[in-house]
Amino acid sequence: MNREERWAAGCCAGDALGARRNRAVTAEEPAGPAPVATGEPPVRYREQGGIAYLTLNRPEKLNALNPEVFGLLDRYRGWFVDSPTAKVAILHGNGRAFAAGADIEHYVSISVADYAEFMRTGNAVQQRFIECPKPIVAAVHGYALGGGLELALCCDLLVAEPDAELGLPEARLGLLPGGGGTQRLPRLIGTMRAADLLLTGRRMSGSEAVACGLALGTGQHASALAAAEALSTRIGRQAPLALQMAKVLLRAAADTPLSAGLPLEQAVGAMLYATDDAREGIAAFVEKRSPTFRGI
Ligand code: COA
Repeated sequence: MNREERWAAGCCAGDALGARRNRAVTAEEPAGPAPVATGEPPVRYREQGGIAYLTLNRPEKLNALNPEVFGLLDRYRGWFVDSPTAKVAILHGNGRAFAAGADIEHYVSISVADYAEFMRTGNAVQQRFIECPKPIVAAVHGYALGGGLELALCCDLLVAEPDAELGLPEARLGLLPGGGGTQRLPRLIGTMRAADLLLTGRRMSGSEAVACGLALGTGQHASALAAAEALSTRIGRQAPLALQMAKVLLRAAADTPLSAGLPLEQAVGAMLYATDDAREGIAAFVEKRSPTFRGI
């Protein structure tokens, strides 16, 4: 059994390779407790064809998010960043949901301080998704509710199946989203549509999410995962530094005035022009061949 197969079999957390790999990414894993060494891990990691798959894996609980899940997501994001071969990551859910939100059962007994800490940790992990130098695609099927939707919003692309159900139902619990839902969603789809979801708890279909620009559709693909794989394959052909800088510029566009964003774009463009990969990309076009990028 090779390494990827062992991860896929869910026996990664306690083995020697995992321990060695974990030491190598210590600086990348400040959040969350260590994964449980026995049983099925609540998040799986594998790489195939230049794609890193981060699979939410609590299907019996519709992939509800708890501190262990956030800890593993953070760890595996670090592995993805360090991987010499994975160019894009896909975040998706095992079973019939992407993620039905934060684990409500976890909320039954924790203190206010623990609750605040859970929000802080979750937001920190999400922020590292946003700042990840490589692209991450969320493939959403079934439910993406509460923290599940908030996590998907921290990915660079969100692909949703037509009958997916996206929403922020926390007010029904006497709570509100704590992972950016009240702030990111109105910026993406406008205050009125965000208010509709927040104030009523209504779930928006994947088709509706596509129509209002919150998600990309699956196109001719049978599932969000297949569509995300097709997108990832295309993304993987681009120059890595250009992708990294595109992420920086897109992020800046969300909260930078145009008068500052345009000079930033020009500065980044000049910097990219000086890279080896730009030389290679331009030469490959002129020579009518595929470029080979090295990320420098
Ligand atoms: N936290 C913890 N467990 C959850 C969960 C969550 N957010 N969402 C679903 N589950 C669990 C259920 O308790 C159930 O577990 P059980 O079989 O041990 O009883 C299992 O997942 C299946 O969920 P169930 O409610 O039986 O499925 P359904 O198809 O009838 O309903 C939902 C699906 C998503 C509509 C419903 O589970 C739901 O409303 N979940 C909560 C969504 C939410 O409020 N999210 C924000 C949390 S802050």
